[in-house]
Amino acid sequence: MDNTVRGGLTHAASFPVERLREAETPLYYYDTRLLRQTLDAVNTAASHPAFRVHYAVKANTNPGILSRVAAAGLGADTVSIGEVEAAVAAGFPAADIVFAGVGKTDREITRALRLGVGCLNVESAEELEVIIEIAASLGVKAPVALRVNPEVDAHTHHYITTGLAENKFGIALSMLRPLMERCRDSEHLDFRGLHFHIGSQVTDLTPYRLLCERINALQEEYEGFPIPWINVGGGLGIDYADPDAHPIPDFDAYFEIFARHLQLRPDQEVHFELGRAIVAQCGSLITRVTYVKQGVAKKFVIVDAGMTDLIRPALYQAHHKIENITSTATEEAVYDVVGPVCESSDCFGRDERLPITHRGDLLALRSAGAYGEVMASAYNCRTLPGSLFSEGD
Ligand code: LLP
Repeated sequence: MDNTVRGGLTHAASFPVERLREAETPLYYYDTRLLRQTLDAVNTAASHPAFRVHYAVKANTNPGILSRVAAAGLGADTVSIGEVEAAVAAGFPAADIVFAGVGKTDREITRALRLGVGCLNVESAEELEVIIEIAASLGVKAPVALRVNPEVDAHTHHYITTGLAENKFGIALSMLRPLMERCRDSEHLDFRGLHFHIGSQVTDLTPYRLLCERINALQEEYEGFPIPWINVGGGLGIDYADPDAHPIPDFDAYFEIFARHLQLRPDQEVHFELGRAIVAQCGSLITRVTYVKQGVAKKFVIVDAGMTDLIRPALYQAHHKIENITSTATEEAVYDVVGPVCESSDCFGRDERLPITHRGDLLALRSAGAYGEVMASAYNCRTLPGSLFSEGD
């Protein structure tokens, strides 16, 4: 994918080292200028009159992030009532919030309908019946979309691929017709459209073209059914290897695929749910070196952040670029960078080439704004990481 930065932006990360030295580590540092530039780039690239972008809240629910994304005018895509409420609190209008997820409880559905969310993305026939019952008891019409499993391979890590027949998500194409009819005919439902999502960290745009073709075929098959919205999900990937070369994903190329290949009906809207592409590059996990340990075969840099603060390397074999942001050394050495948690997978990088590193140095684990802070845990009775914004709070 061509990730060229557009509009003459040349953002290279710079860290307020003195502020970070004073701060308690580990902590997430967010560059709000880059976040704002990224939001501007999304809004510009998605300026097609039929396009509406939602932010996938699950990527980062830090209130400082949520309120900035809400202020940029995006809608919110949520997967629990906790996320719905966090989005409302951050300023997203309820009508611009979509609530998805395979296991919504009765309590969550009831609360979401009472709050007036814009749409429930329904993942099964069983869930649809529960929504009808609850809507009838509340005396409301529930706005719903059906999440269809498009059977398009996103070619990403198997833990974050979602659009295949074996995945738990969505409704199989072969089971769709009776549910479309139920949505059209039930007096308790207001059918909004179809929802798709093929997976996450998608860096080759070809699967999105295949998704458009699948949707076009479906629209033909369901000619005569009103389908006001097509929601194509999220998943646009980012450059973890070289965040400074590509701080902002190529949103133009991404939206262009849909503008060119999706055959829309008159007045039909296209919804997008981007998470990682919006917030990943603006965040870094800042961690302090506790020890530099000489082993028999290796040198270890032991840091105060662990898999509890950033689980992506341990869970998906992900690699976040590691930088020593305080070293002035000109010579380099090779280290394994590891955390303090009692698991061998608590490792951020093997054979990392870093400037000669010492106890007390600060390292930045880059591209950690998405699925970083929000996936932190207190395993080993560890404290959750804090956060710091480049501007303000
Ligand atoms: N829409 C739906 C229905 C989703 O399931 C997801 C992500 C998104 C949108 C947003 O995807 P994004 O644009 O952020 O790729 N924890 C994993 C990623 C899990 C993604 C789950 N679903 C990671 O750290 O890579």
